[in-house]
Amino acid sequence: MTTLTICTPDDWHLHFRDGDILTETVAATARCFQRAIVMPNLVPPVVNAEQAMAYKARILAARPAQSTFEPLMTLFLTNATTPEDIMAAKASGVVAAKLYPAGATTNSAAAVTDLEAMYPVFEVMATQGMPLLIHGEVTDHHIDIFDREKVFIDQKMSKIVEAFPHLKVVFEHITTSDAAQFVLDASDNVAATITPQHLLMNRNDLLVGGVRPHNFCLPVLKRNTHQAALRQVVKSGPAKFFLGTDSAPHAKEAKENACGCAGCYSAWSAIELYAHVFEELDALDKLEGFASHYGADFYGLPRNEGTITLVREEWTLPDEIMLPDGRPIVPFFAGQKVSWKLQA
Ligand code: DOR
Ligand code: ZN
Repeated sequence: MTTLTICTPDDWHLHFRDGDILTETVAATARCFQRAIVMPNLVPPVVNAEQAMAYKARILAARPAQSTFEPLMTLFLTNATTPEDIMAAKASGVVAAKLYPAGATTNSAAAVTDLEAMYPVFEVMATQGMPLLIHGEVTDHHIDIFDREKVFIDQKMSKIVEAFPHLKVVFEHITTSDAAQFVLDASDNVAATITPQHLLMNRNDLLVGGVRPHNFCLPVLKRNTHQAALRQVVKSGPAKFFLGTDSAPHAKEAKENACGCAGCYSAWSAIELYAHVFEELDALDKLEGFASHYGADFYGLPRNEGTITLVREEWTLPDEIMLPDGRPIVPFFAGQKVSWKLQA
């Protein structure tokens, strides 16, 4: 096979950031995705409808000329979020709300400290048909970082899903066989996104031969048996698993740092990296469902009408990209070869 044409994909988990950088990040995603779920972990976070719509306007203003890319906005849940905030957000077109356990990741200090206190908010989300997007890791200091997703499932996720059978829940960026199995065993209201880095890499790619800060993301890469389980699940192709890059730009200086930021900036090669993985798995026929159908179906949105074409052509990711403020950023998979390329 030398070309592959699929329905235009969407990215169901993405960080654009704000300000000048939007001309870089929005263009990178609009290159091949028609829509993206935009994460709300700005500083300060996007906590109400008004802020979400203002952020949406800034994203739209940064789109390349002729682009029809559509950002899908989300709300950042805090201890202070009320059921009324959810109703107002839904009415103004906000698509989903994101639950970060406080301190779980980048810019999440203002997030939720008591999950059970959020149950009235989840109740309204269920009746409004608004999906709850969950960063599924506990933050307790004594829990090993490699176990934080599994402990979250046992202590929190299973309870939320049981208490709200009608709530749509997306278990974001899953990294373990435990998470994949949890989603497979749950009702059709529970789905998951999977990033390119968690399909392509395991913790050896983070730590063997020296620390590789550009492969550091959260949840952190896990052992190879978990990577293999995620690969197996996308190869088998159930509709509960769909594309979410978690593309998360941090300037080079913030990654190559004594306290380096978590996040892989994968937008410039996202669809190509997924194609690369699906080809390795001999499952290119499953790419379209994962990238272009199942996310839209889960969110109750129409599938895209256009198509994109990927060409079988080897190319090398650049070592660096220049941000609008003049600082370099190192893209995910920098300097490495990918075997598919989006046709211009
Ligand atoms: O690696 C990550 N980066 N994981 C997250 O959950 C957040 C993200 C970011 O915002 O940079
Ligand atoms: Zn994210």
